Amino acid sequence: MSCCEVALSSEHLPGPAADEAPLTAVGERVEVRPPSTADIESYAAAVTLSERRLADFAMPNPHNLPVVLDHQSPTYRTFMVHALDPEASHGLVGRINVANVVEGAFRSATVGYDSYDPYAGRGLFVEGLRLTLDLVFADQPHGMGLHRVEANIQPANHRSAGLVRSLGFVHEGFSRDFLHLPGIDGRRDWRDHDRFTLLSTDWPAVPYRPHGHRRIACVVNGSGSTAFGAYGGTSLASALAAELGIPLYTASIVESPATLFELLRVSPVGGVVECRLGGPELRMGLARAGFEPSGVPVLEGATDVSRREVVRHALAVRAAHA
Ligand SMILES: CC(C)(COP(=O)(O)OP(=O)(O)OC[C@H]1O[C@@H](n2cnc3c(N)ncnc32)[C@H](O)[C@@H]1OP(=O)(O)O)[C@@H](O)C(=O)NCCC(=O)NCCS
Repeated sequence: MSCCEVALSSEHLPGPAADEAPLTAVGERVEVRPPSTADIESYAAAVTLSERRLADFAMPNPHNLPVVLDHQSPTYRTFMVHALDPEASHGLVGRINVANVVEGAFRSATVGYDSYDPYAGRGLFVEGLRLTLDLVFADQPHGMGLHRVEANIQPANHRSAGLVRSLGFVHEGFSRDFLHLPGIDGRRDWRDHDRFTLLSTDWPAVPYRPHGHRRIACVVNGSGSTAFGAYGGTSLASALAAELGIPLYTASIVESPATLFELLRVSPVGGVVECRLGGPELRMGLARAGFEPSGVPVLEGATDVSRREVVRHALAVRAAHA
């Protein structure tokens, strides 16, 4: 079992329709095709050879291909990546699962994968994943006709995250305690995962595609002297910045208004500006920072604000930039 997968039970699901053409693709160094009983031996050799490396983030089982075969269905498809020029006891470069396929208005799925020794780390697997994504996004019946795929990756698994970023996936979010899996410490536990996604409309995507965050800003009236809870309370400005996940630019640290707005201008995500400006000076500052002044909420500063109030303000700030 690799990342993003649920454990397969022994319950038998319907397989792809018998008249359905198998989804296959051939590239320069690898080819991708659905698994078959002919792969069972090479799969066992490949996983056994790679077991120790895979165990950092997955639960390798050299003998589970028959179960995987039994479970193939329109909602759970496996793609085996084969080397065109095999050089080892087996020719298997990797395995990719496209699971949790939901049709209708969603047309979305999750991908999970492993690459096998001795092919791992040589750029063969990424070619196989690229070919698989071609199939995932191609219209039916030549592909799966999906609109979106997501890869959920433990933050410590930078190889896997680098792999999907190189294919143009973007980091969309973070899911707490997402899967019960081994992690870098060797223990099995609930593991946080980063969520990377790719859309059919992006594909073929620009490698390392930037996320394109929306910049958001708000102004909190105040001197900023209590920005970090100097009097034991939490200021609205600092609580809002934390809730929105954007920087706080406060007049208590940056006294010059020009510098305050210059910091906001260069921030790729925007920020919360805490200052005592108003009127034309505030509007000019916001405009110089790249915001339409009338679209930036201006709030009254306060300390010891309840969480309910902070969240209510943060949601309104997000909505103002929607
Ligand atoms: C993740 C995994 C499938 C990648 O397979 P691989 O065989 O190393 O992949 P490839 O050699 O084809 O891909 C290389 C690409 O991966 C990325 N990559 C590899 N190592 C990286 C690193 N240390 N940091 C960032 N990106 C890295 C790069 O984009 C690299 O392309 P580049 O060489 O042009 O820079 C493999 O490491 C693996 O099986 N890991 C264990 C199981 C696992 O983690 N599964 C996924 C769970 S989410």
